[in-house]
Amino acid sequence: MSESASEVYRNHLIPSWSTLSGMNPVEVERTRGCYIYTRDGRRIFDLRSAHECANIGFNHPHVLQAMHRQMQQCSYVTDDFATDATAELTQKLCALSPGSPDKRVWYGQSGAACVEAAIKAARFYKYRQVFHENRDAYDPVSYPYPYKILSRYRSWHGATTGALSASGDPRRWFAEPLLQPGVLFGPDVYPYRSPFGDDPDGLKAAAYMRHMIEMEGGKEYVAAILVEPVVGSNGIIPAPKPYMHAIRDLCDEFDLVMIVDETMTGMGRTGTFLAIEYYDVIPDIIIMGKALGMYCPLAATIMTQKIWNTFRHTPFGHGQSYSGHALGCAAALAAIQVLEQEQLLEHTRKTGQYLEAGLLKLRDKHRSVGEVRGIGLMYTMELVLDRQTKQPVRKFNQKYAHSPVREVASFLLEKKNIYIPSDKFGLWITPPLIVTKSEIDTLLEAFDEALEITDKAAAAYHENHQD
Ligand SMILES: Cc1ncc(COP(=O)(O)O)c(C=O)c1O
Repeated sequence: MSESASEVYRNHLIPSWSTLSGMNPVEVERTRGCYIYTRDGRRIFDLRSAHECANIGFNHPHVLQAMHRQMQQCSYVTDDFATDATAELTQKLCALSPGSPDKRVWYGQSGAACVEAAIKAARFYKYRQVFHENRDAYDPVSYPYPYKILSRYRSWHGATTGALSASGDPRRWFAEPLLQPGVLFGPDVYPYRSPFGDDPDGLKAAAYMRHMIEMEGGKEYVAAILVEPVVGSNGIIPAPKPYMHAIRDLCDEFDLVMIVDETMTGMGRTGTFLAIEYYDVIPDIIIMGKALGMYCPLAATIMTQKIWNTFRHTPFGHGQSYSGHALGCAAALAAIQVLEQEQLLEHTRKTGQYLEAGLLKLRDKHRSVGEVRGIGLMYTMELVLDRQTKQPVRKFNQKYAHSPVREVASFLLEKKNIYIPSDKFGLWITPPLIVTKSEIDTLLEAFDEALEITDKAAAAYHENHQD
């Protein structure tokens, strides 16, 4: 190469969600465990686990060996042929996801593709129910059939048009007004900043969802509710348990499809294989992605029998080259074995508690910490300029504006060799699940120094807003 890797990136690559002028990638020599080793001699802790994809850390030898074996055998064939890797992973996902193992899986390569698969499956299910199976249960003058998807503000389901249309995230605005119709947004379930004031269990938010369903035509028009069990990109907000039960009840009452998007929360991130296990709720469709394929792009839409039954005689009108990719499935299987053999779920729960205790101490010390929240090894410290009024350091609609979070991220990267995203509402803490307590101590010490930056911003804000 006549140019260095970073020069090629700067001159020829289009970065996701950024301007070309902001691009300054660090050249990588290799990755191992929790760390990225750079050509300029640094060892950087990846506190976002490569977009929450490298849950078991980089280059785990067990997964690399499984990939190597699979590559020699067969990397990919169409689903007119069956490979052991894809079959075994499918069995495993059907067994590990809650409810009867009598499920079926459609594979894509991205969370977005699998969200779109889930939305299509839900709509096909309702369509078939109305026109083929249970016409009498529906008002004969209703038209056309239940198709509306109820999503939520503060949600992210992916960047392709169908998934983006269902995302309550400022990134949706880039594509407006040319979005897929038929999606409605319900309220956030965000106890710290609930639009309903005091709503610790999210039951007021759930009651409003009920109101929306009724106002949108009830079961004649609404097909599904789509939720993240722990809101990811929009703030790491675990849904309260009673809320999740209320959503399941609503789906049962109005015969809606409950779709749970576990793209970020699956593969042990929250201390159970899927976050939904914590809630003891059985969804109709589960989406997995990101860490599923560990080092390969692999995502899955897992459907219960109620939904897949639709496709006995009606084709599932969705598909992708590389669906059911054997290499990706072999990597995913090996990664699940690592989660099991190294008892990483238990480790995640324990180190998560240790992390939380440390973060709560920092909250007591630093005025700019509004709230500490999370589950397993998926945590955030939401940062504020004023604890009383909860004035945020970054407002929801200021995703691309400069905020003190960017300065915190730069400080951590430049001075402490810790990498976090800079466009969130505070400190984003999603380390690889293999993180040790002593590494957590090092991270906490670094946060302690970094929070001085936002404490200063909070002090300045206070100065300017005294009456
Ligand atoms: C909950 C959730 N769903 C879907 C997606 C989209 O996944 P992908 O980027 O693989 O399309 C993401 C990505 O961040 C996500 O967090």
